[in-house]
Amino acid sequence: MKKIIVIPGDGIGQEITASAVKVLQKVDEKFKLGLEYDYRDAGGTSYEKFGTPLTDEALDACKKADGVLFGAVGGKKWDSLPVHLRPEKAIFGLRKGLGLFANLRPTKVYPELINSSPLKPELVGGSDLLIVRELVGGIYFGPRCESEQVNGVEQAWDTEIYSVPEIERITKLAFETAKLRRGKVTSVDKANVLAASRLWRKVVVDVAKHFPDVELNHLYVDNAAMQLVLNPKQFDVIVTNNIFGDILSDEAAVIGGSIGLMPSASIGELTSLYEPIHGSAPDIAGKDLANPMGTILSAAMLLRYSLRQEAAAKAIEAAIDKTLADGWRTADIYTDGFKKVGTAQVTEIICDNL
Ligand code: IPM
Ligand code: MG
Repeated sequence: MKKIIVIPGDGIGQEITASAVKVLQKVDEKFKLGLEYDYRDAGGTSYEKFGTPLTDEALDACKKADGVLFGAVGGKKWDSLPVHLRPEKAIFGLRKGLGLFANLRPTKVYPELINSSPLKPELVGGSDLLIVRELVGGIYFGPRCESEQVNGVEQAWDTEIYSVPEIERITKLAFETAKLRRGKVTSVDKANVLAASRLWRKVVVDVAKHFPDVELNHLYVDNAAMQLVLNPKQFDVIVTNNIFGDILSDEAAVIGGSIGLMPSASIGELTSLYEPIHGSAPDIAGKDLANPMGTILSAAMLLRYSLRQEAAAKAIEAAIDKTLADGWRTADIYTDGFKKVGTAQVTEIICDNL
């Protein structure tokens, strides 16, 4: 048996993970994967039940599992809680607790959705890039001060720290991944200003020497942000630090037309975790409006990377392709002339297409 911990989380996290489990069950019937599910809470939902966004018990269960399928966390309701109780702490706790140092965020342009892209079709058509974001270091995890007084003036600060081993492991993974793709790595930093970025660039250059067949170039993050909308086709694998990866992956996600379709894999030392890129969208939660495809595609990544079930992963991806090709659209990607469906119905259609 293969144990999957499902963490629905908050808002639409509940319905999209339910959809993904339905699809996994269907694929399990076909490919005899022997999947088993166990559920845990996280985020605001966990705070309401246990007074903390992530319990030690939930983290332990994840450590013992074969893979974690995560929905989303957050909601207005919990925005005013002190920092250590906020829903986002759950995802940071899981990332740190499971050692999830690499976040893989692929952006694929579906020909059927090209008109939903904010960019011109001729510009985005054929783009296929993967952002490899460092996930447990840098400014999101460095020492910080919420508030201090200096000469009677209030200030706050955060710190960007990267060590050589931290940069090495994420860079190696990026190069190894590039070898399986088109063999090109773009490292994104701000080495013209930041010391941590200068070390980043030096380590990336050193690691690159072990991968002579992979092409490497460097971009400053401001330029990278511009290049992503100017000419996304130039990219294969982008490797970058935590904060730049956070920002650029949202930008890259919409190139394909909708963030609702974008999956991610967080790879680490223990169990890996899979989640859609989008958030918990509390405004549409429970209304059967959410697009479950990002989560379903994340489940496909779980099968691929954690369970090494490539055929089953491909079957899910093909079922999504067919659903889109047949004209089915959830509200976020709906345009005139297509068939509008809700979360539950699109899930059934995807299952039927498996
Ligand atoms: C993401 C999200 C998280 C992050 C938030 C929810 C803390 O934006 O996974 O990209 O910033 O890492
Ligand atoms: Mg983000």
